Amino acid sequence: MTEMPVVTEVARAKINLALHVTGRRDDGYHLLDSLVTFCESGDRLDITASDEDRFSVSGPFADVLGAPADNLVLKARDGLRQRLAAAGIITGPVAIHLEKNLPVASGIGGGSADAAAALHGLLRAWKTDLEPRTSNALLLSLGADVPMCFAGTPLAARGIGENITPLPQMPAMALVLANPLIGVSTPAIFKALERRDNPPVGALPASADLADWIDCLKNLRNDMEPAATRLVPEIAAARAMLDAEGALLSRMSGSGATCFGIFGSFEKAKAAAEALRRQRPDWYFCATNTMSA
Ligand code: C5P
Repeated sequence: MTEMPVVTEVARAKINLALHVTGRRDDGYHLLDSLVTFCESGDRLDITASDEDRFSVSGPFADVLGAPADNLVLKARDGLRQRLAAAGIITGPVAIHLEKNLPVASGIGGGSADAAAALHGLLRAWKTDLEPRTSNALLLSLGADVPMCFAGTPLAARGIGENITPLPQMPAMALVLANPLIGVSTPAIFKALERRDNPPVGALPASADLADWIDCLKNLRNDMEPAATRLVPEIAAARAMLDAEGALLSRMSGSGATCFGIFGSFEKAKAAAEALRRQRPDWYFCATNTMSA
């Protein structure tokens, strides 16, 4: 067995600061125009060389995950190995450990971020790379959100999510994430949408000024929020709680139920998360900074 140091990756929570549903393709997938950023916090993956392939899970949300065989981390591992083998690159067995810190089925990437982190980690562990076309095909085959999670920095996502434009001028933000711990099925929310022909996001600030970004975001929406709130009314309550704690702006991310509040500083976000935990000890709250470009 070749020596391989532990490779660690953070599978960062994905936040849709705005998510407009602009159309639907013939195959049923929805066309989106979304502003996306990523949090410093997330799940954690550790990858080491092993005598055989292994997969283990720990962390606060480990018990909520389905069967390991359905985990996108393993689909990412197998898909990558297959494509590398097709290029004549043989890869050794690995033990992958996933620390599941993010709530599951919650609109912040979860499985997609784990799959993207697994690919980054395995490419480092196996000291290899994929050519861009193969890599893009693999990412999209794992899910519409996986390409953006693999990019991992502020971006605009269009198409079904795979058409990515980096947004280097998006500033880092201090967020509180709030989730009532009610899982939401993404296809169910897409199905429940009333309109699928909403206008796109439009012009964005040219500078990294947070106030300009908040003004811009105030005119944007998450088009999935009304449908998600009908199914999970706690989403409206989560936003009201974030607003009451002084959020400059609150909104739902993805297909929910996680909502985020943008705060003026990380200290304010931390104080808000602590106050919210006292109000709802049974919910998930997390204060975190987002990544800058
Ligand atoms: O691509 P992924 O497997 O993550 O998508 C899960 C489901 O969400 C799809 O089967 C589809 O019903 C819905 N979806 C969609 N339009 C998108 C992304 C996902 O309708 N852009």
